[in-house]
Order: sequence, then C-alpha cells, then structure tokens
Amino acid sequence: MSTRSLQAIVLAAGLGTRMRSAAPKVMHEIGNLPMVGHVLKRIQHYQGAEIGVVVGPQMPDLVKLVARLAPGAQCHEQVERLGTAHAVLAARSLLETPKDDLLVLFADTPLVTDAAVARVREALAAGADVVVLGFEAANPFGYGRLVMRGDTLLAIREEKEASEAERAITFCNSGIMGFRGAIALELISAIGNANAKGEYYLTDAAELANARGLKVSAVSASEDEVRGVNNRAQLAECEAIFQSRMRQEAMLSGVTLQAPETVFFSHDTVLGVDVTVEPNVVFGPGVTVEAGARIRAFSHLEGAHVGAGSLIGPYARLRPGAQLAADTHVGNFVEIKNATIGAGAKVNHLTYIGDASIGARSNIGAGTITCNYDGYGKYRTDIGEGCFIGSNSTLVAPIRIGDGAYVAAGSTLTEPVPEDALAIGRAHQSVKPERARDLRARFAARKTGKP
Ligand code: UD1
Ligand code: MG
Repeated sequence: MSTRSLQAIVLAAGLGTRMRSAAPKVMHEIGNLPMVGHVLKRIQHYQGAEIGVVVGPQMPDLVKLVARLAPGAQCHEQVERLGTAHAVLAARSLLETPKDDLLVLFADTPLVTDAAVARVREALAAGADVVVLGFEAANPFGYGRLVMRGDTLLAIREEKEASEAERAITFCNSGIMGFRGAIALELISAIGNANAKGEYYLTDAAELANARGLKVSAVSASEDEVRGVNNRAQLAECEAIFQSRMRQEAMLSGVTLQAPETVFFSHDTVLGVDVTVEPNVVFGPGVTVEAGARIRAFSHLEGAHVGAGSLIGPYARLRPGAQLAADTHVGNFVEIKNATIGAGAKVNHLTYIGDASIGARSNIGAGTITCNYDGYGKYRTDIGEGCFIGSNSTLVAPIRIGDGAYVAAGSTLTEPVPEDALAIGRAHQSVKPERARDLRARFAARKTGKP
C-alpha cells in the first residue's frame, strides 16, 4: 500500500431536486448506508487521510451525519453553487496545507470501488500531476468527454462546449479526479467560468495543467462503478448493483445463498463460513452471523449477532441488541430485541423476548411474552440457565427466574422465582362432571324455545 499522504474532498452540496425529497440527495441510502457514507468508506481506510466534505447551506442533518460516519472529517459550506471547481475551493483551508495526493470525489457516485480509487492514486504515485477516472459510457450524453492523445489527457470537454467530434467520444469523466497535492490549489484557483453554464468547471483543470507542461492522464473504471444518482429510479439501480455485489462476495467467501436475488444485505453484513441463508431473508444494518448458522426463509435481522451453528427462522425477527450465543434455536414468529440468548437455548415459537437475558440451555415455550414495558419505562427479565418456561407464560418485568427453575404453562409471573423452583401462576383447574351435558340441554332449549 502507498505511503503517500492523502487529502480527499467529497462534493456533497447537491440538493438533488430530482430526488423529490426533504433530505439532501447524498443522505439517501444504498445498503442502509447513506450514499455519502459509501464514498467516505473508500477513503477512510487510508491511514491518516484528511477528509473535507463540501455541503450546501442549511444542511445540518448532513453535517451531523458526516460527523458520525467520519468523525475526523471537516464540513465546508459552499454557499453559492457556482460549479465543481468552486465547490472544491470551499475547502480551500485544506488545500492550503497540501498532502502528497488530493482526491476529489462526488458523494452521489456511491458504487466506486477501492480498486478504482487505488488506480487513481497509483497514477499519481507514478508521476502524474492530474488523473481522471474515466469510463466507457454506453450513452455519453451529459458527461464530460475525455480528449486523449496517447496516454495524455489533453482536455475534458463538457457536453455543452463539446464539438461534434468531441461528442462522439465515449470515454467519459466519472467525476473522480486526483491531483498532485502541491499543485492543486494554484491550478484549481486558476479555473475560470467562461463557458456555456457560467460555472467554474473542475474539469478545466486538465487543459490548464497541460498548458503548464504538467502530466495529465486517465485511468479506467467500469460504468457500474461510477454510476451517478439523480433520482430514485437511479438510486434503485445502484441498490441492485450493490446487492448483487454483496451476494457475490458472500457466496465466494463460503456462504450458501439458496436464492441469492431474494436476500438483501446491508453495507456491513458479516456472514461466516458455511452459513446458509434460505430465500427471502433481509439483513438490516449491524448483523453478524457466525460459521455454520442457518437463517431460514423470511427472517428479518437487524443489529443482531447470531452464534455459530444457530438455527434462525423461518419467519424470525431479530431486532437491535439481539445477541445469540452458539447453537441457539429461534423459530417462527419469534421476536427478540435487546436480549442475550445463551448457548443451546431454544425459543422456538410465537414469542416476544425483549430487554432480557436467557441462560444457556433454557427452553422458552410457545407464546411466552416478556412484558418489558408499562407505557413509561422498560424493565428486564432475567432467566437463568437450564430453565423451562411453559407455553403461554407472561413474565412481567422486572423479574428474575433462577437457574433450573420450571414455570408452569399459562403462568403470569410478577414475583421472582428461585433456583430449581416450580412456579405456577394460574388459576386452579376445577372439573364439574356431567356439567357439559346439562349446559348443552339448557342452551338448546333456549334456542328452540321448547323445554
Ligand atoms: C460533472 C462533470 C462531468 C462528469 C460528470 C459525472 C464538471 C464540470 N463536470 O458533470 O465531467 O462527466 O460530473 O457525473 O465537473 N457540485 C457542488 N457544487 C457545485 C456544483 C456541483 O457541490 O457548485 C457537486 C454536485 O452536487 C455533484 C457534483 O458536484 O455531486 C457534480 O456536479 P453536477 O452538476 O452533477 O455536474 P455534471 O454536470 O453531472
Ligand atoms: Mg451530475
């Protein structure tokens, strides 16, 4: 890996009018991570990278989001939208103390890969002063065309200024550019706005650099990597590409997906070796599944950890804070939230476990509910190891069930149960012989009006 130091400027000022949204465009998510987060990830793994994010005016939520996703990054406000070069100069204070490399990325181009960014940096390391990440566009309309002579990028021509011959070029600017840090500020400051849009085009840096005798080149990416998002249809296209990448990666790393196109991943989903995922499973953010576990059909997991060899679903819901040890079983229509489930414990049917801990090898019967909420506060249910909770039990928190305790089916418990005790919290059964026969006779008479 390169030892060169890095600054990166991420342009995120776009309002994204065509998203028809109250939120800034780059806050829309792919794989449950805002687009800007995807681009930040491509830079954050470079040790010591200095990151500037250019935001528009009145985007406090975006500023907060950036602070959360990239705590070291600085936000710079571009007050007026006067073009991409103008946007970069909003982060002038960064450029005044340059590093070896400067990268400029667009936050609405979320699918760019680490490999593509690395190629831009390699070209800088090899001596280029300005590098553009280009791609072969199926339809180049609207993109800046890369005018090449051999390996030299002579100029980037925007659609509106391009000649007919230049418009025929299909090798286009993705928007990702690299600069030798030492020359970046002077070069970008020299860009003017004498063009059809009256904007300061960052792309003019290519021609200006050539005029200064600097070395300007291009490297390539696939069109899928540099797809931009302007509306929600394009957002969905990027989501689909992202999902198919995640599925591919999972399968190649040893995960079986029985129907890959029906499994939805988040950007941070981690699945161990020999995990099997049945059809129609959704992984929300923050899920880790350890080796050999099986996630059965129609399960929804979010903020959850599933231990090795566990069996989840079908139709299970693991919500944030569900921490399952190895070899647990969680069956159909079971919801688990903010709860630890010990090794080998079973919660197999129609149950809600919230704000709880369940010890190893305990068995939670069908229909058990932890009553964790009284409309005001949340309370914990602690179930020890090797417990047996009978079906349809209602455990009113806060409550503690000691190790090895038995709870009779249908109990409603409000008091703690000591170790190895049997708790029965239900009315006594009484049986009236022959009473059913009498009842039937009475009811039939009432219906027909005859005694
Ligand atoms: C730009 C490139 C074009 C490239 C294309 C790739 C320029 C002049 N043109 O064109 O060569 O092929 O992207 O998609 O750079 N932005 C700001 N402030 C501004 C203007 C833009 O932050 O004042 C941000 C936008 O939010 C966006 C990015 O910069 O994320 C690109 O701006 P946009 O107006 O979309 O440029 P394009 O015309 O698409
Ligand atoms: Mg654009």
